Amino acid sequence: MRSFIDNVDFFKGNDPEKIAEKYGTPLYVYNEDIIRDRMTKAANVITKYPYKANYSCKTNTNLEILKIALSVGVNADAMSEGEIRMLLKAGFSPDRIFYVCNNVSAQEMKYALDNGIQVSLDSLDQLRLFGEINRGGSCAVRINPGVGAGHHEKVVTAGKKTKFGIAEEDIDRIFDVAGEYDLKIAGINQHVGSQFLDPSPFLAAVDNLLRIAMKFKKLEFIDFGGGYGIPYHKLDDEQEFDMEHFSKEFTEKLDRFVNEYGSNPLFKSEPGRYCVAEGGVILGRVHSIKQNSGIKYVGTDVGMNVLVRPSMYDSWHDIEVLSNGKVVDRTEGKMEKVTVCGNICESGDVLCKDRELPIIKDNDLICVLDAGAYGYSMCSSYNTRLRPAEVMICSDGSVKLIRRRETFEDMFALYE
Ligand SMILES: Cc1ncc(COP(=O)(O)O)c(C=O)c1O
Repeated sequence: MRSFIDNVDFFKGNDPEKIAEKYGTPLYVYNEDIIRDRMTKAANVITKYPYKANYSCKTNTNLEILKIALSVGVNADAMSEGEIRMLLKAGFSPDRIFYVCNNVSAQEMKYALDNGIQVSLDSLDQLRLFGEINRGGSCAVRINPGVGAGHHEKVVTAGKKTKFGIAEEDIDRIFDVAGEYDLKIAGINQHVGSQFLDPSPFLAAVDNLLRIAMKFKKLEFIDFGGGYGIPYHKLDDEQEFDMEHFSKEFTEKLDRFVNEYGSNPLFKSEPGRYCVAEGGVILGRVHSIKQNSGIKYVGTDVGMNVLVRPSMYDSWHDIEVLSNGKVVDRTEGKMEKVTVCGNICESGDVLCKDRELPIIKDNDLICVLDAGAYGYSMCSSYNTRLRPAEVMICSDGSVKLIRRRETFEDMFALYE
């Protein structure tokens, strides 16, 4: 693909250079249409049975994006009190929020309960704690099915070597604790990992959870977690997650289960990345170009404080180069190998290493693709840098500031 942003008209006719000048860089830019499209697809994975997609808002909690999720009709999963608060502020009613927590205090759990939000417990200890503060209540338990998968060791969230969930061999103990506190186990959930373009590991995990579900009586819901992938190598024509094929295979597995189980719990999933990753990019400014020991370094303002995924997971993000607001052609022009880095005091502060990119000049813009998920939500103020602003290219083509850039006054306010 020559250019993703031109192909999909990401900026909807607006000049990215003007947007960068007006709002400054680094800048997160979202495209409302793409986010709506992916959320709608995620919402319709299963149509034959009662089904709900919970947008996993850890990927991006910007209020405007949560409002899009709300209007598309997906529910949401939250991992912390902060995420619950953001969802409530966006207008989600408590019955549309599922709190999938991990190692939380009684106080945080109570916050969810007091707000009427369904809680999933991820250890026997947390289940006991829930029983102590809510005897006779109803909850879900997160199962660790013993196998996980994902694009990096750090995103594998099930299996024998992860902290998540209750192991299958402890299921009888779940019933013991539930009995002790008179708890109703209304649902089970899992999340085995992230970024599957090949749906087989997810589908295998579906089979596994459905097998485990047979051990529970009268479940109201079964939640299979998230993980649908996106093509991070789209400029090299990597293909999208095949939703249609996936949906067909997923439904066949549910058919078999419904027959055997004899009743029809609500099925759920928790897609995060799929909903928002492709709908977000980062515009960054090139401030310096130099050669060190034969390596050409392109120095930008997109540091690991703005996008940590490349440093944290060695993740690949496609990068397009913009000169005077126009994409520099990567198929016709000259290319050269460069290492693109940020302005943070870490040698790991690298967006890409030895990557063939069109010739980059000082003051050009880089556009980092697929940054809508685990981008802003993982930002930090490392090196006492300010968190960037976020703008939305709305469906009507207007450009809207949806979060202002942090200021030094914001930082100092914590000391007052
Ligand atoms: C419990 C849970 N559900 C859903 C997700 C979303 O995963 P993804 O963004 O891969 O869809 C995550 C990601 O870490 C998670 O931990």
